[in-house]
Amino acid sequence: MMFEEAWLSYHTVNNSSYRPYLTRITYNIEDDIIRNAIEEATIAIKKMYGICLQSECCAMEAVSEGIVLFLNKEGCEQLGSYDISMAEKVIRIEASSSVGILYGVFHLLRSMSMEEDPCEHVACSPSNAYRMLNHWDNLDGSIERGYAGNSFFFCENKVLITERTKTYARLLASVGINGVVINNVNVTKDAALLITSKYRNSLIHLAGLLNSYGIQLFLSIQYSAPMSIGQLETADPCDERVIHWWEGVCRELFLTIPNFGGFLVKADSEGNVGPATYGRTQAQGANMLAEIIKPYGGIVIWRCFVYNCQQDWRDRKTDRAKSSFEEFAPLDGEFHDNVMLQIKNGPMDFQVREPVHPLFGELDHTNTMLEVQLAQEYTGQQIHVCYLIPMIKDILEFQTYGNSNKDCVKDRIRGIAAVANTGDDPNWTGHDLAAANLYGYGRLTFQLELDARQIAEEWCRMTFGVDASLCSSISTMLMNSRETYEHYTAPLGIGWMVNPSNHYGPNVDGYEYDRWGTYHRADCHGIGVDRTSEGTNFTSQYKEPLASLYDDIATCPEELLLFFHRLQYSYQLRSGKTIIQHIYDSHFDGVDEVQEMISSWMALEGGMDAIVYNRVLKRLYMQLESAREWRDVINTYFYRKSGIDDSRGRIIY
Ligand code: GCU
Repeated sequence: MMFEEAWLSYHTVNNSSYRPYLTRITYNIEDDIIRNAIEEATIAIKKMYGICLQSECCAMEAVSEGIVLFLNKEGCEQLGSYDISMAEKVIRIEASSSVGILYGVFHLLRSMSMEEDPCEHVACSPSNAYRMLNHWDNLDGSIERGYAGNSFFFCENKVLITERTKTYARLLASVGINGVVINNVNVTKDAALLITSKYRNSLIHLAGLLNSYGIQLFLSIQYSAPMSIGQLETADPCDERVIHWWEGVCRELFLTIPNFGGFLVKADSEGNVGPATYGRTQAQGANMLAEIIKPYGGIVIWRCFVYNCQQDWRDRKTDRAKSSFEEFAPLDGEFHDNVMLQIKNGPMDFQVREPVHPLFGELDHTNTMLEVQLAQEYTGQQIHVCYLIPMIKDILEFQTYGNSNKDCVKDRIRGIAAVANTGDDPNWTGHDLAAANLYGYGRLTFQLELDARQIAEEWCRMTFGVDASLCSSISTMLMNSRETYEHYTAPLGIGWMVNPSNHYGPNVDGYEYDRWGTYHRADCHGIGVDRTSEGTNFTSQYKEPLASLYDDIATCPEELLLFFHRLQYSYQLRSGKTIIQHIYDSHFDGVDEVQEMISSWMALEGGMDAIVYNRVLKRLYMQLESAREWRDVINTYFYRKSGIDDSRGRIIY
C-alpha cells in the first residue's frame, strides 16, 4: 500500500551526482543506532539508485572511497550534531554521538532524494535539546483527539510492537525527533498501570526499539496514582508515604527500562488531581517527583494547562486566558532543574489564531517547553488542509521582550512538544497532506532557521518525487491553508464557535453558556472579549511594549482584535471594512479558496499515485462541504444578531 513509509518511500533518482560515491559504506564503531543508520542508507540507496551497497567496519585511515561514518568518540555532543564533508571519492559523516551519525545519514539521503548536488561541507546542530511528540493514545486503542485511526501503541490494554513501530521510529528519527510520550495526558485507571510491573517487559522492548533510533521513551502519569494503584488515601506531594511510594515506582522504572526519560504530568487540570488538591503549589507537586528521578537523569514535564473549567458564563471577571500565568508566574525560580514547564502556544487551547502565551516572556528562571498541537483538533481534524508550520515558526520567532538578550520564544525554551497527529491509518495521518505537519514539525524543531515553505517543498519532494511544478502547487496549497481555514471559521482571533465535545463544525453558541471559559460575548451590538486594562486586564500579563500594543485598539494586530477587544459590528477595520462586513467577506472568500484548492489539486491528477490523489480529493470535498456550513452558520448568526445587511447582497440565510 502506497504511503506506508510516508516521506521515506524514496523514488528513483535521475540526478547521478552522488553515484560516484555509492561504492560502499564503512564505519568505525558499531552499535544499534549505527546499524540502523547503515540499514537506512542501504535500503534507501537501493530504492533510489538500484545499487546494493556493502558495509564493513574498518579503520578509517584505510578508507579511500564511499560513504564513511565516523563516530568521533573524543567529542561529547550528544544531541545529534553532525558534519558531512566531501572529498575526492568520499562522503564522510562525522559526529560525536551515534544519533548524530544517524541524523547525518538521513540528511544525506534527503539530499539524494531531492536530487540536489552534493555540498562540500555541511555542519548541523539541533536547535533544541528536547524535540518531542506527545501521543494522546489510550490503552484501549482509542486516541483522544485522534483523526488518523486508532493507536499503534496500544490495543485492548496491551502494548503493541510491530513493523509499524519500527517504521514510526524511522520516520521520527529522519526528522530529528528524540523523545516520545506514548500515552494520553489524561491518564485513566488502565493507563496508570503503565508504571507498574504489568507493562514492564513490553516497555523495555519498546524503549529498546526507540532507543535504537535515538528516541527516548516517556510516560504520562496520573498524579493520583498513589491512591488509584498504590492503595494510599492521599497523593499529597508532601506526605512521606506518597514520596516513599513514588520512590519505589521510579526506582523500578528507571533501573529496568533502558534510557527511560521521565514523566509528563497533567495535574490540577480539567478534573485531574494535582498538588492544589492538597493545598500545595505546582512547584511542590513537580519538585517531589523531580527530586526522586534526578539521580536517574529523569525529567518531569509539567503542563501549565491549569484553569477553572467550572466557570459561570455570567462571570465576566474570570478570564481563562489569564489562569496559567496567574498560577505559574509567581513560582518562577522555584522549580528544580529537571522540571520543564510545558506551555501551550496560546493562552486558550490550540485555536487557529491566538496570541502567544504570555508565560514565555515571564519565566526567566524556569525551564520551559513549547507545546503545539499537530492533531488538528480545532483546525479541521485532518479532514481540512491546515499546514501548521508557518504558525509554529511565527510562535518561535515571537518577541516576548522578556529579557534583553533572549527575547524570542525560541531562545527562551529548552524544547518543543507536539501533540501527535498519527494513528494506524495506512498513510499515518488520515489526510495525506497532514503528514507535512509531522514532517515539518520535526524539521523545524531540529533546525529553527528553516523556512516553512522550504520545509513544505522538501516534504513534497520526499513524498511525491521531484516534479517541480507538482511540488510547487502542493506547497502553495499548504502555505495558504491556515489562512483559508481561518477565513471561514471563527473571526479575528475570537476562536471556538465549534460543536461542543467533538470540536468539529460550526456552532457559534456551542460553548457560550457553558462552564469552560471560552466565550465570544456576541450580542446585538457587538462581539469580542475585553481583555484590556479596562476589561479582564489579560494584556498586562505581557511585557512592554506588548502590553500596550495589545491594549490599544489602534495598535492591536487586527487578526487578534476580537481576542483582546470588545467592539461594535460597525467598527471600521484598517481595510475600511466594518467588522460585520469583514465577517461576511472572509467567510465567502474562505469557501472560494477551498474551491480553488480543489481546482489546483485536480490539475495534479496523473502526477501521483491514484489512491493518494483520490484520497485527498475526497477530503477536499468534505472540507468544502464543511467550509460552506461554517460560512452559512456564521454569516447567518451574525446577520441575525446585528441586523446589518451584507453590502454585496449575497445569500445569507
Ligand atoms: C483540550 C482537549 C482535550 C485535552 C486538553 C489538554 O482541552 O480538548 O482533549 O485533554 O486540551 O490539552 O489537556
